[in-house]
Amino acid sequence: MKFLVFSDYQKLSEAAAEQFSKQLRQKPDSLLGLATGSSPEGMYRELAKRKVDFSRAETVNLDEYVSLPATHSQSYAYFMRDKLFDLVNIDQKRTHIPCGTAKDLKEECLRYDELLKKLGHIDLQILGIGHNGHIGFNEPQDHFEKNTHVVDLKQSTIEANARFFSSLGEVPRQAITMGLYPIMTAKKIFLLASGEGKAKILKEAFFGPITPFVPASILQLHPDVTLFADEEAFRLCKI
Ligand code: F6R
Repeated sequence: MKFLVFSDYQKLSEAAAEQFSKQLRQKPDSLLGLATGSSPEGMYRELAKRKVDFSRAETVNLDEYVSLPATHSQSYAYFMRDKLFDLVNIDQKRTHIPCGTAKDLKEECLRYDELLKKLGHIDLQILGIGHNGHIGFNEPQDHFEKNTHVVDLKQSTIEANARFFSSLGEVPRQAITMGLYPIMTAKKIFLLASGEGKAKILKEAFFGPITPFVPASILQLHPDVTLFADEEAFRLCKI
């Protein structure tokens, strides 16, 4: 596990963008695992600003809210187009996100797992971390979930994400998320975390016991994880 600590979010985002573009320079046809949320937003902005070449890349996103169509401004499909895909030269046919409005959600999970199997191991997986230790929407529970699944979001996740909606009641209660297998078999993982609010969970995830009650703690078993954190988020971690 590599820990990179920066004075602020902008510096963290620039460094992550630099390492991300290095991946695409070394392997232009990389399979990239992507996350949404506040943590990677600055990195995406930097990637677009630097005109990084995505022409041969393929992407798979971690998750999507159940019931939000891709046109909804808070869907993750919309987020990705708005923050990255519409700003770079990616072939949008090679961008993949679970469909939250699929009639049969179980079928959709199977379809996504089949797709992941067909595409092979992810070259670089980007992650944020929830205040409760979730990665993707793999929420804390008594076992690690391997495959894509529908998840009931924890109340704390619903509350944390309410900042993007006009009211708490509008936040979807369920999501489809990639399971931990494709994340753990990614060749390389960058986890981005910023702000005081992430300090406690970073310590638990990376310096506490490996437990499904803190899903991100499984990353301690991965051979190539880099944490990009700002000083506030890293405050309680000791190395
Ligand atoms: C988003 C995702 C989530 C977020 C996490 C942190 O696709 O998978 O795990 O990474 O909830 O969100 P932010 O970055 O908004 O604090």
